[in-house]
Amino acid sequence: MANPPIAFLGTGAYVPSRILGNNEIAQRVETSDEWIVTRTGIRERRIAGPTETVSDMATAAARAALEDAQISADQIDLIILATLTPELTMPATACLVQKKLGVSERAACFDLNAACTGFLYALDTAWALLASGRYRHALVIGAEKLSSVLDWTDRSTCVLFGDAAGAAILGPARTNTQGILGTRLHTVPGAAELLYIPGPEVSPNPLDLRRLLRMKGREVFKFAVRAMEDVARELLEQHQIEAHQIDRVIPHQANLRIIDAIAHYLKLPLDRFYINLDRYGNTSAASIPLALHEARQQGKIRPGDLTLLVAFGAGLTYGGALVRW
Ligand code: ACO
Repeated sequence: MANPPIAFLGTGAYVPSRILGNNEIAQRVETSDEWIVTRTGIRERRIAGPTETVSDMATAAARAALEDAQISADQIDLIILATLTPELTMPATACLVQKKLGVSERAACFDLNAACTGFLYALDTAWALLASGRYRHALVIGAEKLSSVLDWTDRSTCVLFGDAAGAAILGPARTNTQGILGTRLHTVPGAAELLYIPGPEVSPNPLDLRRLLRMKGREVFKFAVRAMEDVARELLEQHQIEAHQIDRVIPHQANLRIIDAIAHYLKLPLDRFYINLDRYGNTSAASIPLALHEARQQGKIRPGDLTLLVAFGAGLTYGGALVRW
């Protein structure tokens, strides 16, 4: 008998309690609520407390996902954590989460960095490893403390991002509808300077000494629209699905204008897209699992629904996934 498909068995999310609204940012840098809302759709974001770590947030989201999946920590044999803000340079934040959750030594634990496309890269990797039969239940997390890498004097970036974590449990499908149908991942070569955080290497740019996020927003914007449309079309064609057959799109939550443009190009109504960036801003690798979990909680993804997950990020990376619930 063929193995059952690999499916999402549960989802979870966590956001810090501290809310940072646009007006509060406008007291620190020259901006306004009106500018931020019209250019991005973002109204507020969450900021982790000074002692609240990436592994704390990731563990909270993972606990919620385990409960949702009705799976115990000792059934997990693979943890993949996507982040661009790891708690330590080593070991991987996934190892810290393993300890906090009480996942056994049998588990393989590692981090992965594909910036805002991180959750989809982690999903694709976990899917492949589970489908190989070598692992049975994977915990896939996207978690970020972006507030720690933002230049709070740079109005063109500090208004965009927030802190959060989202998680999913993947394993053998439990119903005959659910399963991951397909994924596509890509990377544009030679585009690193559009969006980066410097490392310890010496750079000719004195600003890089501060090791904070730098971005050419306008170029990233154009890339984002083209990339997410292309990968969505590629997946749809590959699986012979028409765009209108998608019940819900979970896009990376970077900018409402980007999502609006994709809806327009795919000829889908905007209400087919789940949007929460107004409340959280761009939470990078946490963005898609956080949106997925909220959409499920609000009944906006129901058993049997077909969803398209689509993201872009530094790299420049981009990707998509088709998932039946
Ligand atoms: N408040 C007021 N004015 C601002 C602000 C601000 N917060 N930020 C920039 N401006 C000014 C600029 O200085 C510029 O002024 P100028 O014309 O006098 O030079 C003007 O607004 C227009 O700037 P643009 O950059 O052209 O504004 P744009 O409409 O492109 O919006 C934005 C900027 C929101 C950053 C947009 O380009 C964007 O969303 N880009 C995509 C970014 C993104 O999604 N990045 C995440 C990638 S995911 C990852 O991997 C982390």
